[in-house]
Amino acid sequence: MENVKVLDHPLIQHKLSFIRDESTGTKDFRELVNEVSMLMGYEITRDLKLEDVEINTPVEKMTAKRLAGKKVAIIPILRAGLGMSEGILKLIPAARVGHVGLYRDPETFEAVEYYVKFPKDISDRKVIVTDPMLASGVSAIDAITALKKRGANNISFMCIIAAQDGVDALAEAHPDVDIYIAALDEKLNHKKYIVPGLGDAGDRLFGTK
Ligand code: URA
Repeated sequence: MENVKVLDHPLIQHKLSFIRDESTGTKDFRELVNEVSMLMGYEITRDLKLEDVEINTPVEKMTAKRLAGKKVAIIPILRAGLGMSEGILKLIPAARVGHVGLYRDPETFEAVEYYVKFPKDISDRKVIVTDPMLASGVSAIDAITALKKRGANNISFMCIIAAQDGVDALAEAHPDVDIYIAALDEKLNHKKYIVPGLGDAGDRLFGTK
């Protein structure tokens, strides 16, 4: 699938081995998730537009490049997506951060948005949606639908570990969205956890297990 990119740089794979390891505690887990997010963010922002600026170096005048216009909005899916936003903000400190929290009504199967706050100019920004785990794909699909409803039109999704089912579902629902993952795992178990995965990302990030 051409809009799916596996970012398996050796540094990412190395850090991911500690993220997956059950003996890694909350503090290290949180730091590692942010470090991997920063490394992934470097690749995801490769297409940001640049403009020419005239500057003076101590030696002479030159035309240099700077990021052009409105830039990036990071949209963590609550709650585990929050664990990835700081790492990207280290790369792009001026990025805006929106939040989306939703669940599927168990009776109607409609997405219920319990918290949505996006930057007003979301339609002018490159939007990076974060969630460490892409399991069934339902939350990512609903979050991206919520963004499109409010005008977002340049959306990338990033996660640390994905299952093929989730990738397929997201790519089918939103074929215009680029999907960046650090690792593609085998399958989901009966509880919809990714196998081998890393367990519950939210619990491991926030120490709530
Ligand atoms: N969410 C998680 O936190 N872990 C999984 O394995 C799947 C979804």
